[in-house]
Amino acid sequence: MTSGLTEGLTLGLKPGLKPGLKPGLKRGFKPGFMHWAAASPAARFICGQAMNKMESGEANEIRDLLLWNDWHPVANATTLGVVALQPARLQNEELVLWRDGNGMVHAWDDRCPHRGARLSLGRVAGERIVCAYHGWQFDQSGKCVLQPAQPRETPPAAACARRFHAREAYGMVWVCLGDPALDPPPFPEHGQPQLRKVLCGPYVVQACGTRVIENFLDMAHFGFIHEGVLGDVQHTEVPDYRVGPYDDGLGACGLRGVIATGCFVWQPVSNLLAAEGSMVEYTYRVVRPLTAILTKLPRQQQGFAEAISLHVQPLSEFVSQAWVVLALTDAVSSDLELRAFQDRIFGQDLAILESQRPKRVPLSPGVEIPQRADRLSAAYRRMLGDLGMRWGVI
Ligand code: FES
Ligand SMILES: [Fe+2]
Repeated sequence: MTSGLTEGLTLGLKPGLKPGLKPGLKRGFKPGFMHWAAASPAARFICGQAMNKMESGEANEIRDLLLWNDWHPVANATTLGVVALQPARLQNEELVLWRDGNGMVHAWDDRCPHRGARLSLGRVAGERIVCAYHGWQFDQSGKCVLQPAQPRETPPAAACARRFHAREAYGMVWVCLGDPALDPPPFPEHGQPQLRKVLCGPYVVQACGTRVIENFLDMAHFGFIHEGVLGDVQHTEVPDYRVGPYDDGLGACGLRGVIATGCFVWQPVSNLLAAEGSMVEYTYRVVRPLTAILTKLPRQQQGFAEAISLHVQPLSEFVSQAWVVLALTDAVSSDLELRAFQDRIFGQDLAILESQRPKRVPLSPGVEIPQRADRLSAAYRRMLGDLGMRWGVI
């Protein structure tokens, strides 16, 4: 069921316990598209950290169950060493990431259960985390095993850090805050040895993840926002293309997404190796609410192939971090050059993404006026509605 993932760690659990579970969190969601869709009436639920609610004084925070039980990238796996603790953020939760001496990744709540200090201010000592404030030591299961102020006593069972599911895939650390119904999204091109992989980003954007994904699926903006690179103002027409349901091949454990094929666009510089403009054939697959993958084949460059996956990490409903993974046949350009190209493209999109109003993608007709080239975007919106998405949509 892992579909070419670089399998990492799913935390070992005590019998009857699951990481990320909070009192009152609704259980019983099983894998599969229909289950999530059927669950949509219950998709708004209250599970924000009690501390956040108490401090903000806000009404109970609404979370998105669909995203809560999904996997999201939170860090570059290669920069997560075995020494340092690394803070991260996901769906308003503050996380601390660490890698133990066996190379396994862990994601915990970045809060010491003693007096609430950030665990990420502490350190890794062998197989333990040591809190910076009073030196409590936690083993890999999150259990406090030493309180230095009373070293001869056994710490109480309640002295336990809150843990989440963590894995490595596609060069990133992935975290699921709830009960993972699925594996991280399938990206089979990443498993093809002839394709070179480069991780780009992450790019922080003050926009909903849904807007970021929809922009990735949009061909009609190439000639305006990416003029001279991915598009040309003299070639703005978007020929009709096909849109249909996409099966990720994971059966009952998978999710029905959206695919667009036969998408053609004229590009002046479709990639770093392009010596001239070319018609380029795109396919787009939306395989999770916040993951989309495109492939592109320029007609003028036989042998060139490229797949680009976009994964949006929802820092909050309105702030996102975008990760881009390249799998391509370019063996000439340096990693630095390939990343600079993606930096440039994402930088061009940024101001538009942050300008869009409403910030949430409207699923109802009449709020925005679609054009025929938006058929893929329309299918994505239907997918989000069918799945019961709550964050980033109205
Ligand atoms: S706050 Fe962490 S040991 Fe006291
Ligand atoms: Fe763009």
